[in-house]
Amino acid sequence: MKILVLGSGAREHAIVLALVNEGAGHEVFAAPGNAGLGRDARLVDLDMFDTDAIAGFVAENGIALVVVGPEAPLVAGVADPLRERGIAVFGPGKAAAQLEGSKAFAKRIMESAGVPTGRAAYAATPDEAAATLDAFGAPYVVKADGLAAGKGVIVTDDRAAALAHAEEFLPGGPVLIEEFLAGEEVSLFFLSDGDTVRPLSPAQDFKRALDGDEGPNTGGMGAYSPLPWLTTQFGSQEAFVREVTERVALPVIRQLDAEGTPFVGLLYAGLIVTTDGVKVIEFNARFGDPETQIVLPRMQTPLSQLLFAAATGTLEDQPAPAFSDDVAVTVVVASEGYPAAPVKGREITGLDEAEKVPGVHVTHAATAKEDGGLIATGGRVLNVVATAPTFAEARDRAYEAIALIGLEGSHHRTDIAAKVA
Ligand code: AMP
Ligand code: GLY
Repeated sequence: MKILVLGSGAREHAIVLALVNEGAGHEVFAAPGNAGLGRDARLVDLDMFDTDAIAGFVAENGIALVVVGPEAPLVAGVADPLRERGIAVFGPGKAAAQLEGSKAFAKRIMESAGVPTGRAAYAATPDEAAATLDAFGAPYVVKADGLAAGKGVIVTDDRAAALAHAEEFLPGGPVLIEEFLAGEEVSLFFLSDGDTVRPLSPAQDFKRALDGDEGPNTGGMGAYSPLPWLTTQFGSQEAFVREVTERVALPVIRQLDAEGTPFVGLLYAGLIVTTDGVKVIEFNARFGDPETQIVLPRMQTPLSQLLFAAATGTLEDQPAPAFSDDVAVTVVVASEGYPAAPVKGREITGLDEAEKVPGVHVTHAATAKEDGGLIATGGRVLNVVATAPTFAEARDRAYEAIALIGLEGSHHRTDIAAKVA
C-alpha cells in the first residue's frame, strides 16, 4: 500500500517504522519529516496544512491512505477537505478534533455521554479564577481551553502560581479550573472508524522534566507499556481495557456520532486511576507522543490494516489488535534548556552504536542532516526505545544505548519505568 504520513516528530517516526516493519512492501512517504523519517520513508516537501497540495500529491502518486500525525492540522480541519475528495484519511475532521482542541467541548461531550471525569468550572476573569481556586482548594489544576503544546496545564499547591497561570491564558478566553484527581496516570489509545473502536495496550507517560516527577511539565520525557500494576488492580490489562472501552471510549464515540460529527482516527484517553474509579483528565485526537513509540513496537497486528480499516469504516471486520508479552520502555533525550529554552543546532553522535544494543532502536523527534552529520533541531530530540522480556532488562538496554549517544548539554530522566522494574 502507498501511505502518506503527515508530521515531523518521533510519533510519526514510530508510525512509519511500524508500517515499514510489517514487511509487506508498503511505500511510505512522510511530510515534512525529519532526518530519521528520511531514513525510513520518502520525504515529501508538503505543508501539512495545504490540503490542495496534499490532495494533488495523493492523486499523482496513487496514495491509498493518509495518516495525520499531530493535533494542529487535525484541529485546523485538514482531514475534512481530503475526505471530501474521497481520500482515505486516518484522523478526525475539524468538528470531532475539538475533543482535543477545546477542553470545554471535551467536558460537554463527557457530560452528555456520562463519562467519569473531574468536576470543573470556568473562570473568565482573574476574580472569578481566584474565587474558583478557593472553592476547589489545593492542589490546584488550571487548564487553558485550546491547544498549548502541553504547556496549557498547571498542577500546583501554590495558589499564586495557579492564579498567575490563569491570568496568562485568560486573554484567550475562559480557563478551566478542575478538581485535582489523585492516582496513577494511564494513556489508552482507541482506533475508531466513527462507530467501532479497537483498543491498543495501556501505557504511562512521564510528563515532568526531572527525575521523581519534579520540574516543569513537558511534552513527555519517557514512557513504558504495559502497566503491571493494572494487572494487580484489575486482574489483567484486558479487564482494565474492557472497562475503559465500555465506560469511556464507546460512549464518547457514540455521542460524537449522534451529534453528526463521527470520530475517525485515534482517540487518546488520558486517564487517572483514582480510589473512586477511572476518570478522564483529557482526550487527544491523535496518537500520543512518546507513548506511540512504545505501544506500536509491541503490536503484532499489522498497523496498515487497522489504520486503513478505521479510515474506511470497516474496523468491525478487524480482529482485536494483539500485543507481544515483551515490554517496552522509551527514554527521551532532550536538548539543553528544554522545556523553557532549548538550545538547537548541536551535533548528535553515536546513534549507530546505540542501535546495536540488542532490542534498541531510536526514533527521531527533532533532527536534521547537516554536513553529512546529524543535528538537533528542537527540544525533544530522540526517543531511545528498548524492548525486552522484563522492565529491568528494557531499562538496562535503553540506558546503555543512551550512554553511547553524544549531544552536548542534553538531558534525560533516569527513572523511566524504574518503579516497575
Ligand atoms: P492534560 O494536558 O490535561 O493532560 O494535563 C497535563 C498533565 O497535568 C496530566 O498529564 C496530569 O499529569 C496533570 N493533570 C491534568 N488534569 C489533572 C487533574 N484534574 N488532576 C490531577 N492532575 C491533572
Ligand atoms: N503524551 C502526551 C501527549 O501525547 O499528549
